[in-house]
Amino acid sequence: MDLQQLKETKIAALTEASACADLDAVEAVRVRYLGRKGLLPDIMRSLKDIPNEEKATFGQTANALKNELSEALDIRKKELRAAETGTSDEFFDYTLPGQWRGWGTAHPISQIIDRVADIFATIGFTLADGPDIEDEFHNFDALNTPGDHPSRDMHDTFYLDSGELLRTHTSPGQIRYMENAPPPIRILVPGRCYRRDTEDATHSANFHQVEGLYVNERVSMAELKGDLTYFARQIIGNRAEVRFRPHFFPFTEPSVEVDFTCHVCANQPTPKGCRVCKESGWIEIAGAGMVDPNVFKAVGYNPDEVAGYAFGMGIERIAMIMLEIDDIRRLYENDVRFLSQF
Ligand code: PHE
Repeated sequence: MDLQQLKETKIAALTEASACADLDAVEAVRVRYLGRKGLLPDIMRSLKDIPNEEKATFGQTANALKNELSEALDIRKKELRAAETGTSDEFFDYTLPGQWRGWGTAHPISQIIDRVADIFATIGFTLADGPDIEDEFHNFDALNTPGDHPSRDMHDTFYLDSGELLRTHTSPGQIRYMENAPPPIRILVPGRCYRRDTEDATHSANFHQVEGLYVNERVSMAELKGDLTYFARQIIGNRAEVRFRPHFFPFTEPSVEVDFTCHVCANQPTPKGCRVCKESGWIEIAGAGMVDPNVFKAVGYNPDEVAGYAFGMGIERIAMIMLEIDDIRRLYENDVRFLSQF
């Protein structure tokens, strides 16, 4: 091959490289020109037959053929890959700042549960858990609510074909814990609850409660009130007060409904009522009472040796009041525009 032919070969090779239709074609061109048995080694071997005055130019051209062809083949490879995947790393600027999509936030329900748990942790309560699918024994019987007991009607229960049910409250968490541990006990059981309620702005068929249970040798109603007052002041503010109204639950005796002073007007010198508390100054927060002796018997405790208090709080209620949410359904729609406000 003489110098002229070499120059023509170079142009032909570069043209072929840029015309490759697929990656196999690229590889074929590479092998044909640059491979060990390709044209280029041949060309280098023919250098000795080139007249002296042309040797330098011939050598340079052969080198240029090698370098420019490798480069052209690399470029063609990238183009073909980019066309295949629809991306191009050739033109991607790695120094561009990333796109900010914002931090996620914990769901308001989770935030409230965490806050309740943190506050009660400071007075020795630990978290416990129970299943969403319960049996009648844990959800009702062991809680002093036998089959024909009228208070079962208080809970419109979802029953499963298996005879099991979706827990209507977190109180079965008390039973499961006491079955497996001796007193003293200080636990909180947060969880989902299910009732056949018609949905509206303040009701949902699926809601959350936090159960509290304290069992020891001597436990009094005064401690229940003291601990709930401590909790109220932590979550609402220092002026918060707690009020007990007589009530009935099968698993506590005596039983009370617990009101906190309204968080909107509670921190004013004289709480007098506002829209949030419907001008009453009080907001219903929990059901509570002293654990009924029959509950202790059901878990194998001796009611003469232990006493306890229990309470159950509605988490949605606290969330709606503390976070000023006007419709419970917002909490389940998972609209990021709503959730990201908290
Ligand atoms: N389980 C009751 C309810 O769902 C609340 C409660 C819990 C009452 C513990 C007393 C003691 O309404």
